Amino acid sequence: MITAIVYTSNSGYTAQYAELLHEKTNLPVYSLDQAKAALPEQSEIIYLGWIMASNMQGYQKAAKRYRIACACGVCMGASGSQLKEVRSATKIDASIPLFTLQGGFDMNKLHGMYKLMMQVMAKTAGKGLAEKTDRTPDEDVMLDMMLHGGNYVSEENLRPVLDWYTGQQKI
Ligand SMILES: Cc1cc2nc3c(=O)[nH]c(=O)nc-3n(C[C@H](O)[C@H](O)[C@H](O)COP(=O)(O)O)c2cc1C
Repeated sequence: MITAIVYTSNSGYTAQYAELLHEKTNLPVYSLDQAKAALPEQSEIIYLGWIMASNMQGYQKAAKRYRIACACGVCMGASGSQLKEVRSATKIDASIPLFTLQGGFDMNKLHGMYKLMMQVMAKTAGKGLAEKTDRTPDEDVMLDMMLHGGNYVSEENLRPVLDWYTGQQKI
C-alpha cells in the first residue's frame, strides 16, 4: 500500500507538485531528507524529483531506501516528454510507471553550479530555439520559459498521475 509522497526539489516546482498531490490524495508528503526520520524503510511511496540533464534527482537514493510505486520527473519540457531519456539516464526499472510533469524555471531561484549551467544552456539551446523558424508550440513555451521564466505547475498536468493512483486504489 502506498503510504507517502517523497520528493526532491531545488527551486520549488517539484515541491509544489508534491503538495498538490498531497491535497488530492491525502497521503503525507516529505522531502527526501525529512523522510529519512519520518518514514520507515521499505515504505511504498510515490517519488517526485526534478530533472537535471535527463536525470531524476534523488531517485537512486530514494529507491535504495523505499519501494517506488511510481516516479514523477519535474522538468522544463512538456508533461509526458523525455520519458525514454529520463528512464534511461536515471536507470528506472521498466516495471515502474514513470511520468514527466512540466514544472517551471526562474533563473533568480538558481545558485552556484546550477545557475551557471542554465546560463550556458539559455545562451546555447535558447539561441538555437530563438533562431528556429518552425518552432512547435512546446518549443515556444520552452523558449519563453528560458527567456522570461515561468511556472507551469498545474492540476491538469498532474491528472495522469492522479488517474494512475485512483486505479491503484481499486486493485
Ligand atoms: C542544471 C539544470 C539542468 C536541467 N536539465 C533539464 C533537462 O534535461 N530537461 C528539462 O526538461 N528540464 C531541465 N531543467 C529544468 C528543471 O528540471 C525545471 O526547472 C524544474 O521545474 C526544476 O524543479 P525544482 O523547482 O523542483 O528544482 C534543468 C534545470 C537545471 C537547473
